[in-house]
Amino acid sequence: MSSLRKLFPAVLALVCGTAGCRIDMHVQPYNRTMSKSDFFADGRSARLPVEGTVARGDLREDAYFYTGKVGAGDGDYLPFEVTEKVLTRGRERFDIFCAPCHGRVGDGNGFIPTRGLRRPPSYHIERLRKVPTGYFFDVMTNGFGIMPDYSSQIPPRDRWAIAAYIRALQLSQGATSADIPAGQKVPSPAPEFRDIGTGASLPEVKPPGKEASGENKEEPK
Ligand code: HEC
Repeated sequence: MSSLRKLFPAVLALVCGTAGCRIDMHVQPYNRTMSKSDFFADGRSARLPVEGTVARGDLREDAYFYTGKVGAGDGDYLPFEVTEKVLTRGRERFDIFCAPCHGRVGDGNGFIPTRGLRRPPSYHIERLRKVPTGYFFDVMTNGFGIMPDYSSQIPPRDRWAIAAYIRALQLSQGATSADIPAGQKVPSPAPEFRDIGTGASLPEVKPPGKEASGENKEEPK
């Protein structure tokens, strides 16, 4: 203990010398975030970026990719190649973000409209069959009527993938026997559903010839 007491002045001097007495860069004029400033005419200390500044990774050179517009109208093509991978991604994103309201096949029979929200129109009506593909991108980007926009939740590439998938849905729901390759059975037997699904969950397919089983089965009273 006595040796510690002898050391104390030395420790104190060390602390002062290294931390307490260095003032060089610590004391200088600066503005607190969002504070007022008398220096600039607009009274703000925070400055806007110089006009034309582009943050790294934010260059939006391909305007069509980000807007879906050709001039003032909607374009009718995808800004990249539509592959099976793109459509698979589109279906996945559609089922997550759109199906709860629009239904898995885009007929407007999602789960949420059963709880009071206005039922969205089916994608299979004449008017929406005829709109250019860029229109779907625009609705997702800017919203439509009471439907909010999804630009902050869904990045542009995924919005395009969803637009492509909506076109695939329209094709599938409007298909005729002429679209079926020769030798294919038409109509293919429809699966029997145990539960209609909610739009947010996949319908459970009843195994053929078997009684419904599992959680949804009513308990005998
Ligand atoms: C919360 C429910 C909801 C979700 C989720 C939703 N929509 Fe909608 N959507 C609506 C409603 C409601 C309307 C009709 C809006 C109106 O007429 O005011 C609509 C309308 C539309 C229309 C038709 C516009 C027209 O010209 O009539 C399109 C296309 C569309 N939505 C695409 C999408 C896509 C793509 C997604 C997924 C990214 C999506 N919606 C997600 C509720 C939703």
